[in-house]
Amino acid sequence: MAAAGGDIFCRKACVVVTGASKGLGKSVAKTFASRFPDSSFFILLARSLTDLEKVKAEILEKNSKVKVAVRKFDQGNLDQAIFDTLFDSVFSDFGVTADDFEQSVVVHNAGTLGDNTKYGSQLSDVVTVQSNFDVNVSGTILLNSGFLRKFSNSSKGRLIINMSSLVAIQPIPSFSLYCTGKAARDMFFRVLAAEDPSLRVLNYAPGPCETDMQRACREDTVDRTTKNMFLAMHTEGNTLDCDTSIAKLVELVRLDQYDNGAHVDFFDDIGGHIAKAALNM
Ligand SMILES: NC(=O)c1ccc[n+]([C@@H]2O[C@H](COP(=O)([O-])OP(=O)(O)OC[C@H]3O[C@@H](n4cnc5c(N)ncnc54)[C@H](OP(=O)(O)O)[C@@H]3O)[C@@H](O)[C@H]2O)c1
Repeated sequence: MAAAGGDIFCRKACVVVTGASKGLGKSVAKTFASRFPDSSFFILLARSLTDLEKVKAEILEKNSKVKVAVRKFDQGNLDQAIFDTLFDSVFSDFGVTADDFEQSVVVHNAGTLGDNTKYGSQLSDVVTVQSNFDVNVSGTILLNSGFLRKFSNSSKGRLIINMSSLVAIQPIPSFSLYCTGKAARDMFFRVLAAEDPSLRVLNYAPGPCETDMQRACREDTVDRTTKNMFLAMHTEGNTLDCDTSIAKLVELVRLDQYDNGAHVDFFDDIGGHIAKAALNM
């Protein structure tokens, strides 16, 4: 159970969403903003400020009582000062403090595919390999630490959601960088959950969702069999709308029954996770 217990959507929250400019992150931002109480505070991060402003406008059009901050943020730019000051600067701009909220939530959604135009044996470019881990792993860890520094009160609910993927636990030809980054992220958050039981931590695999990333899987993938799998998934109508996947995420965090640090997939039976958690109590 989260430190504060109960339905998280009933308590005033500060919610951070990375990669909120489009795709799944946009869906998380809009869905969560429609569920959390008025005067909750949303901090939306991504590189495209223009797209973030559009997401902010869509949120405020539905509910003008939530607060929304948007910040241009490149998770792959590992500048110490950015990670040290990001939340302080947003809080000071909006005149809020961590004490103003009953709970905090961070959704680590920002991510890239790496280079799916090559097999693992062909990854010889230093910049490509390094920048993949900067954005997907190192930047995620550093932002998470900044978040936990800001929300250090362990008596309040602190929920950390990592946007994971099936590829964190299953090798897929052409996706060596992507799979490795996702596996590393899952393990980082599992360790975090083991280190600090006052945190609620979920690695959520959203299933195949119709986004720019999903399109790149269909178009750029070097391995023919993998590429055909993505093409077939699309033509046969087996990809998901982002909002459908995020509705499942909402249900998961609302029920709050998963094992801390668990990897839960969109296609998993939530009831199964509830039963497993109950056995461990
Ligand atoms: N779509 C799927 O089928 C699927 C399946 C499993 C898991 N996922 C995961 O779900 C998450 C979202 O994926 P998506 O499909 O919605 O992808 P997407 O449409 O490509 O969106 C990626 C998001 O990440 C942001 N981003 C990328 N690089 C960034 C950087 N350097 N710094 C900050 N933000 C950055 C992008 O914003 P800017 O470009 O504005 O920076 C965008 O908002 C990813 O972690 C992905 O691995 C997706």
